[in-house]
Amino acid sequence: DDEGTGSAHAKFILLGEHAVVYGRPAIGMPLPRMWVRAVARVTDGPLLLETDIYTGPLAEAPASFDAVGAAIRNALVHFGQPESHVEVCVHGDVPIGRGLGSSAAVAHAIVEAIRELFGGTLDDDERFELVQSAERVAHGNPSGLDARATRAPAPILFEQGAVTSLDVAFGGVFVIADTGIRGSTKIAVGDVAAYGVANPERSAALLDQLEQLTRDAAVDLAGDRRKELGGRMSRAHAILTELGAGHESITRLVDAAVGAGALGAKLTGGGQGGCVVALVASSADAAGVVDALTAAGAVNCWVVTAAGQRP
Ligand code: PMV
Repeated sequence: DDEGTGSAHAKFILLGEHAVVYGRPAIGMPLPRMWVRAVARVTDGPLLLETDIYTGPLAEAPASFDAVGAAIRNALVHFGQPESHVEVCVHGDVPIGRGLGSSAAVAHAIVEAIRELFGGTLDDDERFELVQSAERVAHGNPSGLDARATRAPAPILFEQGAVTSLDVAFGGVFVIADTGIRGSTKIAVGDVAAYGVANPERSAALLDQLEQLTRDAAVDLAGDRRKELGGRMSRAHAILTELGAGHESITRLVDAAVGAGALGAKLTGGGQGGCVVALVASSADAAGVVDALTAAGAVNCWVVTAAGQRP
């Protein structure tokens, strides 16, 4: 046909961010209510891009679109197409640079739209590799967690590239709050690496603790152990802050959530800004925590179940 479409969703990381860069496990949670959609069409001119922020020739797009450009160009090369005569439109409501997987979701949507436009096929590994190559432009050395979690319909345990779908019978409710501050995953990952170089023993011990917290969290999810999971989230937050991923905007929101009765709260994703995730025992407790987060400066809050649905 003369049009292809693709989509993917946001994700948040329940536990294991940063540690996953060092081969430790992490848990990715789906946010199917936040979407990115891409449409690809054949045109008769240069490679064109249409987004909410920039519309025009891809060659003239600002540097912040380098990863988007990589996703488009790599997909065209994969399907043996010239880097012209195509227009790609990308729209969505995943906030950018907030640790919710916007770059991986955008890459997935683009790759799928271009695949559909040219009627090609992609197996899971080829699709993952195309998204990862765009993620490398965005993040440097991404673990691959985002590339997996932004298409997985259920919570996943991600470990050294392998994905296990988690069987979840969890009744707790998550409140995700956006600090409004854009954190750079690339810089945060670099700062955590620098901490490790300066403090090798302490850093290894902290990564070990994050690994154990993540493995125990998977058991908490399966067994609906809400209080225990909340405690682990708060402990992980303290560790991530010590590793260098914290930020005063995050501390303020984490403290506000816990002060309003959350069972635990932490940064989610790269940190140094971005989003926090708090756990509340049930949807009845969510409103008070949302109010406290908003009063503490959150610019947006989302309340979701473990499957990413409205509670
Ligand atoms: O900020 P996000 O959503 O891209 O998540 C980053 C997660 C890290 O573990 C910090 C980096 C990675 O590559 O997994």
